[in-house]
Amino acid sequence: MTDLVAVIIPAGGSGERLGAKIPKALVQLADKTLIEHAVAQMAPVASQIIVAAPAGYEEQFQQLLGSEVTVVTGGLTRTLSVKKALAHVDKGNEFILVHDAARALASTDLALRVIDSLRAGEKAVIPGLPVVDTIKRVDADNYVTKTPTRSKLRAIQTPQGFARKVLIKAHSSADDVTDDAGLVEDRGVDVKVILGEDRALKITTMSDLEIAHKYLISESSNQIRVGIGTDAHAFSSDPSRSMWLAGLLWPNEIGVDGHSDGDVAAHAICDALFSASGLGDLGSNFGTSDPKYSGASGSQLLAEALERVQAAGFSINNVAVQIVGNRPKIGPRRAEAIAALSQALGGVAVSVSATTTDGLGFTGEGRGISAIATALLSYRAR
Ligand code: CTP
Ligand code: MG
Repeated sequence: MTDLVAVIIPAGGSGERLGAKIPKALVQLADKTLIEHAVAQMAPVASQIIVAAPAGYEEQFQQLLGSEVTVVTGGLTRTLSVKKALAHVDKGNEFILVHDAARALASTDLALRVIDSLRAGEKAVIPGLPVVDTIKRVDADNYVTKTPTRSKLRAIQTPQGFARKVLIKAHSSADDVTDDAGLVEDRGVDVKVILGEDRALKITTMSDLEIAHKYLISESSNQIRVGIGTDAHAFSSDPSRSMWLAGLLWPNEIGVDGHSDGDVAAHAICDALFSASGLGDLGSNFGTSDPKYSGASGSQLLAEALERVQAAGFSINNVAVQIVGNRPKIGPRRAEAIAALSQALGGVAVSVSATTTDGLGFTGEGRGISAIATALLSYRAR
């Protein structure tokens, strides 16, 4: 069995330098608070997560983070907050990662690389980046006393990983340090630096928060997906068959043959939604053999498709559908069609256009009707 990992996230600070009126860990960054981002990134590697909250905010943290996370009261310094959390680490955890709520975007991948290195036998592993500025040591009067060789310097980040016993022993002393590796180093344990990552930046000031936001924006723009769908049906030879199209009933029009109500616009949109989200297609989702969907209206299928793409973590940016056929004439009822389709999809932006095909093909010959649709979705990592 692989060794279990506990993750400690000190979040007990007030965030004075950020200047928000609430503790820094509760500050919102895009869709989540900083502490929620940190927990979300660490959760995949953790058997136990312990968060040190500022005194008085314990309940709020617990509500926000859910019962899977242990919330303890933080201390007056970061070191004390870590120490208090450490007392709650289950014995079954072979390794402990000590993180910072302030490094909310440090990735699961970074945590995994720290753990890999511990599993390979290291006792203390910390992420770090080469420094770009020359660093000088100065005395009390600001005179330079030393210029360390830049190439040998690293800017250290979290999560920092330790063999459980090594960390517990190091924390038994009362020193106040800004990083836990410092305590371990002082006890003569070898501390290994692995490559950190830019997105693990420590959010201290408002401008750091803006930089962090940019990481999330570039991520979400990478996760925009487009999809395409099409559907066609022949007009029915049964003159009593009702015509349903774009979520509307069209009186005085003869409907189409087919499974369900034969709403080609709604079906093409469903296909586009499944296509964009990689969830298959209309047939694989609403198989013709499933009695639940025979006779289902286009609007019902759209609502069900919406639910499925949302459950997979997507939201819809917009949907466009073009209806191809000689009849019915879409223009006079375009606004109604848009409203009906949009309502079935929870109010998203929909556009409806239509064309004939100059007498060509089955649509031009008036034998049937088709529709083609596109959908743009955004993926929201959860
Ligand atoms: N921290 C803590 N307990 C404290 C002080 C800090 O758990 N008594 C945590 C912070 O919540 C943060 C991390 O240690 O996640 C690093 O601290 P820092 O970035 O300095 O955060 P704050 O102390 O909140 O900010 P500031 O120094 O600007 O007040
Ligand atoms: Mg601080």
